[in-house]
Amino acid sequence: MPAPITLFGATSPSGQALIALAAGRELVVAGRRPPLPPASGGSGGGEAPPFLRCDLEDTGAGAEVPAGLLVSFAPIWSFAPWLERFAGRDPARFGRLQGVIACSSSSVITKRFAANRFDRDLVRRLRQAEESLSRTCAAHARPLRILAPTLIYGQAGPLGDRNLSRLRQLLRRLPLLPLPGEGGLRQPIHCRQLAAVALHLADRLAEDGFDPSQPVHLPLGGDDTLSYAAMLRRLQDATDRGDRARRCRLLALPPRLFLSLASPLLLLSPKRFEAVLRMGADLAGFTPAHHLLGGSPEPFPVLPLVP
Ligand SMILES: NC(=O)c1ccc[n+]([C@@H]2O[C@H](COP(=O)([O-])OP(=O)(O)OC[C@H]3O[C@@H](n4cnc5c(N)ncnc54)[C@H](OP(=O)(O)O)[C@@H]3O)[C@@H](O)[C@H]2O)c1
Repeated sequence: MPAPITLFGATSPSGQALIALAAGRELVVAGRRPPLPPASGGSGGGEAPPFLRCDLEDTGAGAEVPAGLLVSFAPIWSFAPWLERFAGRDPARFGRLQGVIACSSSSVITKRFAANRFDRDLVRRLRQAEESLSRTCAAHARPLRILAPTLIYGQAGPLGDRNLSRLRQLLRRLPLLPLPGEGGLRQPIHCRQLAAVALHLADRLAEDGFDPSQPVHLPLGGDDTLSYAAMLRRLQDATDRGDRARRCRLLALPPRLFLSLASPLLLLSPKRFEAVLRMGADLAGFTPAHHLLGGSPEPFPVLPLVP
């Protein structure tokens, strides 16, 4: 009998995907909003899981979290202090948890040397939250894995990503999209793959218990590593025949020319300019999902995508 799960961040695409994958097992959704109605048909169908109202930012009495596993796709900087408060308030109940899986971000690695303050602050918040989670769980000898996924995309039930889907919208609007050559490498992970890894590791934690020799932090990506331009071409190929996204021409410019053309952005928004700079950076080399899940690698893009 698999351990029961309390899921935070159920209203994210990965949360929705986990609910579908965990169909038939004991699962409670904890959050600010009740779970969305399950998608009709397919693996997302069925009854909505029970709901426990819990705002992670609320420093009041706190929710009565059931025993078992905690899985979180909520912002780690909200989840970590909440977990610390939970452990302090009810150490006996906390000590009965079979494991904690929390989602951080690969930005903690890839934006470490960012020149703009916004990204540096993000890295600091992620790192502080990761350290706090590790301290809390180690102090009570509770097993923990922190997933640090790169670019999450895809659709699960009624929810979809807001990054690659926006790029696809851009392809639909523009006749031509200039790029810095082929761009740097990317390793996007589908929300269903991330959910499957979280579920798999959660069950491993429940079986293996606390083992301080195991690495806590797991940078994670999809099974395909491809250039920025190849990622866009595959997105175009994955659209219907008549889709306008197919018609957008990807124009590979010499990277220096591309950056000179983008340079006015530096005055308007250093954060956006750095995002443009990152198009040429390799944000890949993370553990591919299939290494953890077993089975064959899934080529990009894994379906479904946001329509
Ligand atoms: N998107 C990416 O490409 C990306 C990349 C790397 C890492 N990540 C990380 O992966 C996870 C999922 O990302 P996402 O972009 O798919 O998430 P998202 O759509 O922004 O969803 C965030 C989830 O956290 C919940 N949440 C936020 N604040 C909360 C609070 N105070 N109390 C309770 N629940 C709260 C939200 O619930 P409500 O319904 O109440 O708002 C929602 O379910 C996050 O931890 C994110 O940091 C994302």
